[in-house]
Amino acid sequence: MAEKHRVRFEPVGIEIDVDEDTTILRAAAEQGVMLMHGCKEGQCAACKSFLLDGDDVEHDRYSTFALPDYEKEEGFTLLCRAHAYEDLTIELLNYDEEMIQSGLPIQEADVEVVSNENVTHDLRHLVVRLDGDLKFFPGQYLDFAIPGTEETRSFSMANTSARDGLLEFVIKVYPDGLFSRFLATEVAVGDRLRVTGPFGVFTLRDNPGAGLVFVGGGAGMAPILSLLRSMAERGIDRKAVFYYGARRRRDLCFETELRALEAKLPGFRYVPALSEPGDDDWAGETGFVTDVLRRAGADLTGADAYVCGPPPMVEAALELLPALGVDGKRVFYDKFTTTGEG
Ligand SMILES: Cc1cc2nc3c(=O)[nH]c(=O)nc-3n(C[C@H](O)[C@H](O)[C@H](O)COP(=O)(O)OP(=O)(O)OC[C@H]3O[C@@H](n4cnc5c(N)ncnc54)[C@H](O)[C@@H]3O)c2cc1C
Ligand code: FES
Repeated sequence: MAEKHRVRFEPVGIEIDVDEDTTILRAAAEQGVMLMHGCKEGQCAACKSFLLDGDDVEHDRYSTFALPDYEKEEGFTLLCRAHAYEDLTIELLNYDEEMIQSGLPIQEADVEVVSNENVTHDLRHLVVRLDGDLKFFPGQYLDFAIPGTEETRSFSMANTSARDGLLEFVIKVYPDGLFSRFLATEVAVGDRLRVTGPFGVFTLRDNPGAGLVFVGGGAGMAPILSLLRSMAERGIDRKAVFYYGARRRRDLCFETELRALEAKLPGFRYVPALSEPGDDDWAGETGFVTDVLRRAGADLTGADAYVCGPPPMVEAALELLPALGVDGKRVFYDKFTTTGEG
């Protein structure tokens, strides 16, 4: 059995035990400590931290864009790739005080496919039934094992709890995507899949009275829908706008439900934007979703922002939101990185 070492995180003073076979990020999640992360594959740098004490650390394969050699030499590490071979003290460069100790220990579970339907030409709505129980916060995600491989892919829940035993996902189909192609061409009702989770810190922070702005694109619909549905269930009527970017009208989904949420939550507005409306019959907003947000000219001082979708859209929103008045620490995001991008 692999040896265990003690890892202490500063400045929060939390300690965990990590065995040599497990990455520090994974060991923390297993012990209910939610550290900042994104891809979990050494590509995005969201988990980058600094070794204050101890240096016997081995890294699994990672991108030198995320951790250039000179930074590694200075003592930086990627927690999603790092294995501890001695006791360590690590400075977290990025953490969320509200979330760090609220993590639910991760579990593995089998699920059975209940439905697997298209909601647009390239987005699938997957519903699965759990064997047993799995607690998660709206906005979190699970890792799906891809049968016959060692690979996993992350997908965010679109529903708010597994009380009724069901989990819902919105999954983008890439023609040559390892999981999504399998989902689109092979997965049938009744099939069984293996999941692990929950992971993630894209959860609704308590901030009564503060406005909310959601910016999403593509499958980024999933966790934002989960957050909006949870607001409706809990009667949270904060002033909120959801800017959703799509190419064409045929890429829009869950429209009826989002309009119903507007009726249920009087402070909520849904603003879809098409970047390539072509000859679609469309009287709504046009352009990239971030341009639509900029044009809206709202003063977002004091608001909380939630951004989710393809990495270029997330990057553009992260640049724009502080310019519109959102405190950088109040911008929460999940970048839907794929295996080919950082
Ligand atoms: C926190 C988190 C939450 C997420 N939630 C969701 C969600 O709710 N819904 C959702 O749809 N997605 C979500 N994603 C993204 C998801 O995990 C997958 O990465 C994505 O769906 C692609 O998986 P795939 O196996 O279908 O395709 P992949 O096999 O990963 O391929 C995707 C694309 O990248 C290309 N590609 C693969 N490898 C390379 C390479 N080495 N170089 C260049 N190109 C390459 C492929 O050709 C294909 O076009 C999330 C990601 C994260 C990090
Ligand atoms: S989570 Fe570690 S590099 Fe992306």
